[in-house]
Amino acid sequence: MKDLRPDRITIRRPDDWHLHLRDGAMLRAVAPESARHFGRAIIMPNLVPPVVTAAQAEAYRERIRAALPEGSGFTPLMTLYLTEDTDPEDVRAAHRAGIATAVKLYPAGATTNSASGVRDFDKVRPVLEAMADIGMPLCVHGEVTDSAIDIFDREAVFIDKVLKPIRRKTPELRVVMEHVTTADAVDYVRDSPRNLAATITTHHLIINRNHILAGGIKPHYYCLPVAKRERHRVALVQAAVSGDPRFFLGTDSAPHSDPAKLQPCGCAGIFTAPNTMSCLAEVFEAAGRLNHLEAFASLNGPRFYRLPVNEDTITLVRGEPVTYPARIETGDGPVTVFDPGFALHWRVED
Ligand code: NCD
Ligand code: ZN
Repeated sequence: MKDLRPDRITIRRPDDWHLHLRDGAMLRAVAPESARHFGRAIIMPNLVPPVVTAAQAEAYRERIRAALPEGSGFTPLMTLYLTEDTDPEDVRAAHRAGIATAVKLYPAGATTNSASGVRDFDKVRPVLEAMADIGMPLCVHGEVTDSAIDIFDREAVFIDKVLKPIRRKTPELRVVMEHVTTADAVDYVRDSPRNLAATITTHHLIINRNHILAGGIKPHYYCLPVAKRERHRVALVQAAVSGDPRFFLGTDSAPHSDPAKLQPCGCAGIFTAPNTMSCLAEVFEAAGRLNHLEAFASLNGPRFYRLPVNEDTITLVRGEPVTYPARIETGDGPVTVFDPGFALHWRVED
């Protein structure tokens, strides 16, 4: 009998709506990995020190451009790291000048390099109001940091305790709930007006908390927000493959050197830039929804950010299992590439 599964699919070039490129030697090693397949990416500002002002974002954008391969068409879309001292006028000016696409809200202490984040959400209200006024999206790391709240509950509690109040007080604000990991977040986004969207990472579509903790601890599967139970992963897959325009790809590819991860207190972050498109094609194919891969990776994001979709395309081809290097070498040490735990049959054609 003829196998009716397609073995080629051509989609608009995808974008990555949540990406960590780091700086220095690490930036130079990882930027080409994202530039290979992606047209644009929202660049996270959690450097040390963080990218807070328009001037810092502009300088960082130059360093990213300098790290790209000759002739690369990759566009970094910059974000400003929101602090309690952020000046609303600087944010307006950065947006007007095309320097910053979005502002990033980290609750203080929520994740890697977030010490300068927000403690008192009322203090940033003037910035949020300015952003609502100009239609500039707020990217939100949606976890509370209260040590009394169980780490597996921090996203759901954040929705009730932080996000709902912010959206009640600033209803016009356009918000991206980033790297959602729970059915609670999926439901919340689905039931909200159109000015709320969510990104979903590659790895949260593939791993649950057993992958991190069962049969030995696996630091390379540890990231924040931490992967949850299987029923949450299933909800994320359903949202991603549904074609619903509120859900789109943000890989949260977050490289750390192996020595920084393999420690008594290892860093959070999973490096998925090299094999994300192959992983996603497997996930969408398994769900019988390859026809929605383009919406998730290439169409829904630009629509929410009010940007044109990419003009050019990529083609994924199904064949013999493809392999990616287990790790890449960087000037800051080796960085392990995400292992989905199954064979990848889809590769992006050169
Ligand atoms: C990110 C990092 O390493 O910068 N880590 C992660 O686990 N995702 C920070 C973040 O996005 O939370
Ligand atoms: Zn991130």
